[in-house]
Amino acid sequence: GFGAVAVGAGQSLLTGCMNHDMAEMSAVAPTIQEGAFTTPLPLMKTVAEGASLKAGTQTHAIVPGKPASALGYNDSMMGPTFRVERGVPVTIPFTNSLTEETNIHWHGLVVPANMDGHPDQLVKAGQSFAYSFTLDQPAAMAWYHPHPHMQTGKQVYMGLAGLFIVDSPEERALKLPSGEFELPLVIQDKRLSAAGAPVYNPTMPEIMVGYMGDTIVVNGVNAPFHPVATRTYRLRLLNGSNGRIYNLALSNGDAFHVIGSDGGLLPAPERVSSLLLAPGERVDLLVDFSKAALNSEVFLQSSAFSGVGSQGSQTFKLVKFMVNRSEADPFKMPASFPALTTLSPASTAKTRKFAIGDAMHGAGGHSNKKSMAGMHTINGKTYDAARIDESVALNSTEIWEFDNSMGDEPHPMHLHGTLFQVVGRSGGRDSLMAHEKGWKDTVLVMPKETVRVIVRFQRSGKFVFHCHNLEHEDDGMMLNYEVK
Ligand code: C2O
Ligand code: CU
Repeated sequence: GFGAVAVGAGQSLLTGCMNHDMAEMSAVAPTIQEGAFTTPLPLMKTVAEGASLKAGTQTHAIVPGKPASALGYNDSMMGPTFRVERGVPVTIPFTNSLTEETNIHWHGLVVPANMDGHPDQLVKAGQSFAYSFTLDQPAAMAWYHPHPHMQTGKQVYMGLAGLFIVDSPEERALKLPSGEFELPLVIQDKRLSAAGAPVYNPTMPEIMVGYMGDTIVVNGVNAPFHPVATRTYRLRLLNGSNGRIYNLALSNGDAFHVIGSDGGLLPAPERVSSLLLAPGERVDLLVDFSKAALNSEVFLQSSAFSGVGSQGSQTFKLVKFMVNRSEADPFKMPASFPALTTLSPASTAKTRKFAIGDAMHGAGGHSNKKSMAGMHTINGKTYDAARIDESVALNSTEIWEFDNSMGDEPHPMHLHGTLFQVVGRSGGRDSLMAHEKGWKDTVLVMPKETVRVIVRFQRSGKFVFHCHNLEHEDDGMMLNYEVK
């Protein structure tokens, strides 16, 4: 029980927490203040293999007319989008121009352990490191962000994140909407100072549920608009928020096609009218504006949803599409998508079970006094850099089970070093969402749910797995695993 926790700075906070009921705890998700949707949507600069990255302080206007201080890569708050062909050797020289340690984790890219941005592999202030790897995985939209333990939440929130798109001949053969009809969108929520700068200052209840903002930021700006033609667009979305889950939908209620997920295309498109996207997850959508009236407006929004307290109680808009020109739609849904190599549960050597602990029903073990509070645990443990928690045989296939049956909070669980497939969910929702039917690296485990994934381990070395609610991660909800 909690009585055994040593009294320290964290303890009074913890006790304070325990006196709140969940309704009050979840009240810390601030109400979204919608903007005017008068800022053009920034289209992220695309760069090729070989382009360098420099982390540093930027001046960036999240709100139009209010340039303010943020972190970022190169010359903008959002880093450039890398676009790389599968199988081509990639080198990215990185310089840390921050005043503290950082590194880069290539989230969703299966790279050698020493290139993965493990929390051990830090680049000191003023130092450089060249990341290099060759990708052998399906075409997909991954992303990159810092990963220093206990600083990840702050550094990502302050602006350090970017996209990484892997292309392949198989995907090009499908002739999906491309060029101006393919829109990568990074969705985040921020709290801003009066001057318009992102402010990262989570209080204790905010460590519990994740630090959420009241201002939605898409591709680095609040409330953007984008003109579209009457045709099909490919929207490639990343939830780059620290803690907020979005229930994506179109404001006119139209359905859309889900064609891909974290790790690439689905074996077949699925038509849905809403979709939950948790921090760290990506989804690839086809949105058909061909039936929209000329000069109409269609918003991508987050619709209210249940199961996560106040953060799901509001419907709010993310980005405005203005249908401003009539165009024949040349896009035809491909007759077939590349087959998915399904990992078979029958071939598994082992099932590992991970009990997810949060403060209300923790699995125990508040051992890490260095963490903010250590209330978020996996199998009763918080992160210890010096400990290997799981040893896995190279090239083995396993079932990993994330058990949140005792939990009151949603946890998007993320593995480094591999991709996985979701095999089942029980205890809450009993089915898979459309974007869970392909390769994944992050899976949303809602309160009361147990989710099983099947994983193949093809890279040797030491990797982490963790909750991608970045406040939970920094609170210690992360373990090491070693493949050999
Ligand atoms: Cu995007 Cu270890 O995470
Ligand atoms: Cu979590």
